[in-house]
Amino acid sequence: MKGTFQAVRVSDRIYWVGAVDWELRDFHGYRTPRGSTYNAYLVTGSEPVLIDTVKSAFLPEMLSRIASVMDPKEIRHIISNHSEMDHTGSLPQTLQIVQPDRLYASANGAKALAAHFHWDQDVQVVKDGDRIELGDASFRFVDTRMLHWPDSMFTFVESDGVLFSNDGFGMHLASMERFDDEVDEAILEQEGAKYYANILMPFSPLVRKLLDRFPSLGLDVSVIAPDHGPIWRKNPGRIMEWYRRWSTQAPTDRAVVLFSTMWGSTRKMALAIADGLAAGGVSPRVMSLGTSHRSDLATSVLDAGALVVGAPTMNNNVFPVMADAMTYLKGLKPQNLVGAVFGSYGWSGESITYLEQMLSDMKVDRVADSVRVQYVPDGDALEHCRQLGLTVAGAMKEKMTM
Ligand code: FEO
Repeated sequence: MKGTFQAVRVSDRIYWVGAVDWELRDFHGYRTPRGSTYNAYLVTGSEPVLIDTVKSAFLPEMLSRIASVMDPKEIRHIISNHSEMDHTGSLPQTLQIVQPDRLYASANGAKALAAHFHWDQDVQVVKDGDRIELGDASFRFVDTRMLHWPDSMFTFVESDGVLFSNDGFGMHLASMERFDDEVDEAILEQEGAKYYANILMPFSPLVRKLLDRFPSLGLDVSVIAPDHGPIWRKNPGRIMEWYRRWSTQAPTDRAVVLFSTMWGSTRKMALAIADGLAAGGVSPRVMSLGTSHRSDLATSVLDAGALVVGAPTMNNNVFPVMADAMTYLKGLKPQNLVGAVFGSYGWSGESITYLEQMLSDMKVDRVADSVRVQYVPDGDALEHCRQLGLTVAGAMKEKMTM
């Protein structure tokens, strides 16, 4: 086991012993062009503790990194902060190999692990605020349910001031650089925002509650160690500031103009709308579903003040790729958006009704009448589109001053 992979020291007694997935390009529907990491951590001491494990295929890499510090069989305890399989896929095998005294999880974690593995495994349940001593190290637990699963929790190691935040404060970014100060800040913000938009955005009210609650927890955090991407050792406050902004989704002067097209009509309309938005003093980002992935759409919407969306009608329904994107976006529950709808059709025109209903379901405030064009827009129709852009821009500016 010992040999290929090395652990990376995080603090006096803590090591990163995770795995780097350079090839990951799709994380359950979220495009990950930069790959990811599955971070597991070894807390050394008189009773060594492993915090989380890795995706099943990466078990040998994790064991090899552990072995660069100690024999994995010396591990006495395993803490599972979250039961999703990118962190527990290798847990059953790890338990067999390590044979720890105890496995710890939240109450919901114990249930979720049983529902995944259908095992006869004792799990010691820990609750919000619990403190346990494992040998010469002290651990505290923070219940973070629905951030982003019912079982999610954080673990804090008091001696080292390290907060193990599982998916929270993470990002999909494969690299050999393990720490925030080793990665370009623009990449950290971009990938952090993409992760937030695609994983945590639906739970933004809970994120705000957690951030509000944080000072009262009395945790002297010097390092935030998530289960994906870099460890925040230089500036853990930075990712918390970003989470405050992303979870608030205050109105902005950026607009997303999303469209799909069959023969170019909705493209022409989208470009005219973008021209109107710009003339109204806001910054449009035009996204075609022919070239933009739904997960990039979610990222753009995270810091947008408006969503203007258009699609053709096909077989008495919306163009299918738009249904995919809107279903995904609706599930992510973006907040504080104004919006409008446009589309082209041949003889029935249901795409407009579909999109209006979707915006209504998403609580997007439709601030302009929809523009509907038969077959191909003429000059007058494009002027209507431009006026739609101006109207949306005006509503955005008004909302920003409220
Ligand atoms: Fe990284 Fe919710 O798993």
